[in-house]
Amino acid sequence: VARLTGVGVGRAQGWVYENLASHWTSGTWSQWRTRLIRETFGAFGRGSSVSFGVRLLDVHKIHIGSKVSINNQCVLDGREGLRLGDLTLVGFESIILSSTHEFRDLSMPVRDQGMTGAPVSIGSDVWLGCRVIVLPGVTIGDKAVVAAGSVVSKDVEPGAVVGGIPARVIGARGGSRNASS
Ligand SMILES: CC(C)(COP(=O)(O)OP(=O)(O)OC[C@H]1O[C@@H](n2cnc3c(N)ncnc32)[C@H](O)[C@@H]1OP(=O)(O)O)[C@@H](O)C(=O)NCCC(=O)NCCS
Repeated sequence: VARLTGVGVGRAQGWVYENLASHWTSGTWSQWRTRLIRETFGAFGRGSSVSFGVRLLDVHKIHIGSKVSINNQCVLDGREGLRLGDLTLVGFESIILSSTHEFRDLSMPVRDQGMTGAPVSIGSDVWLGCRVIVLPGVTIGDKAVVAAGSVVSKDVEPGAVVGGIPARVIGARGGSRNASS
């Protein structure tokens, strides 16, 4: 709730989302869930939807275009900023991170070293398959595809199809495959 109550949303609204609305699974109730929280996003375009079980961190720093679908059980981390273009699909149980722990100082526990991060930008007409993890600071170009289960640690070119851990080019939306790069 604390994360949802950042800007422009009351504690009660945040509580209703996290404890009730995020669990609604039927189509009608899903529309109500999206209505309940759309004002809390930094931006939320027409025709976009948030499915059940989605966790949102610093939702007021998440900007979502039009006709975007966030599938069930995803985590969207807006702490350092997150943008998604129009028509983009985020497959179920995907995690998009803009924040991470500092960890390099061996003399101090990781938990005491604070947080760092960088904004994530995902273009338009991008498809993230299920269980994709996008790491802080990554930019994914328009019309790219990320295969199921991938960890995206570097920027992805527009129109590229990438897959694996770390995600590498496995093809292109236009058709030609480039598995060797
Ligand atoms: C990305 C995807 C669409 C690629 O489909 P495709 O273009 O037909 O690709 P191919 O099956 O021909 O595979 C191309 C290469 O990528 C590899 N590859 C495919 N999917 C992969 C994945 N998820 N992770 C790693 N490598 C993958 C293949 O093994 C193949 O490698 P090779 O050339 O060395 O043999 C598909 O694999 C995928 O991940 N779909 C997502 C399904 C999903 O999440 N559904 C839920 C929707 S919400």
